[in-house]
Amino acid sequence: MLIYPLFISDIEDDETLIPSLPGQCRRGLNKLVPFLEPLVRKGLKSVMLFGVPLQPGTKDALGTSADDPKGPVMQAIGLLRQRFPQLFISVDVCLCEYTSHGHCGILRDDGSLNNQLSVDRISDVAIAYAQAGAHCVAPSDMNDGRIRAIKLKLIEEGIAHKTLLMSYAAKFSGCLYGPFRDAAMSSPSFGDRKCYQLPPGGRGLARRAITRDIGEGADIIMVKPAAQYLDIISDAKELGRDLPIAAYHVSGEYAMVHAGAKAGVFDLKTMAFEVTEGILRAGANIVVSYFTPDFLDWLDN
Ligand code: PBG
Ligand code: ZN
Repeated sequence: MLIYPLFISDIEDDETLIPSLPGQCRRGLNKLVPFLEPLVRKGLKSVMLFGVPLQPGTKDALGTSADDPKGPVMQAIGLLRQRFPQLFISVDVCLCEYTSHGHCGILRDDGSLNNQLSVDRISDVAIAYAQAGAHCVAPSDMNDGRIRAIKLKLIEEGIAHKTLLMSYAAKFSGCLYGPFRDAAMSSPSFGDRKCYQLPPGGRGLARRAITRDIGEGADIIMVKPAAQYLDIISDAKELGRDLPIAAYHVSGEYAMVHAGAKAGVFDLKTMAFEVTEGILRAGANIVVSYFTPDFLDWLDN
């Protein structure tokens, strides 16, 4: 039920705390297995990988390094499959970590997204992750038509039966992704993501995006953020009756719970449970949560 997000950098011995994301680190490949070993022993079943290229020269206008076989995500997929055969590996598919401009696709000269080029590129990246052994690919870019493009390529490659396609279908723009962008170094260098992420009031737009992505072949529908958007989770459950529904309790929501607890507003553990139970009550079957390691401890006691 819980998926734990991991930030993997291209500096092998890196283990850097992210100040805005309490207790969470960016890690290089050498630090990954020692970090995960005790968590897997405690019952960790599922992770979601995000690549963070930090080496000079790794970002360009096309996000070329996203599927570099020597890049951190491609390497981590192989390493984790080998070292933790029971671990379920999802990979976030986007270009913003890898593009010089920090947007989630390929841009035209005027700075707007070129849909065709973006979808072609993002679907290629998704296939590369799946070929490398990811059990689930999760495109978070919100470019129109990318679910269909990825599904068709998975079918063409003969791996659609063993690769789950999880769509970030209802992804809202807003101010809750700040700590993630610190962690992944993926803030846009100009403009914002309002052209391709949904406006917070857009319930009808979210419902349309969910219906569209189900029609294009998504196996799991995700809503993001989670706690501010419980009605959307409930809508997703209604529209996607036969699909698992995932909710991403995002970086800003996690940081907010920590900040509230630190300020003495509530107890951290009690609130972590309350908010997660609210997300489940709304209809999510899967929660992507930075609290996952804490829950492994808390649920054990
Ligand atoms: C990449 C991506 C983002 C998140 C997940 N995938 C950032 C964004 O869209 O700006 C956010 C996750 C979080 O805040 O924890 N497109
Ligand atoms: Zn992105």
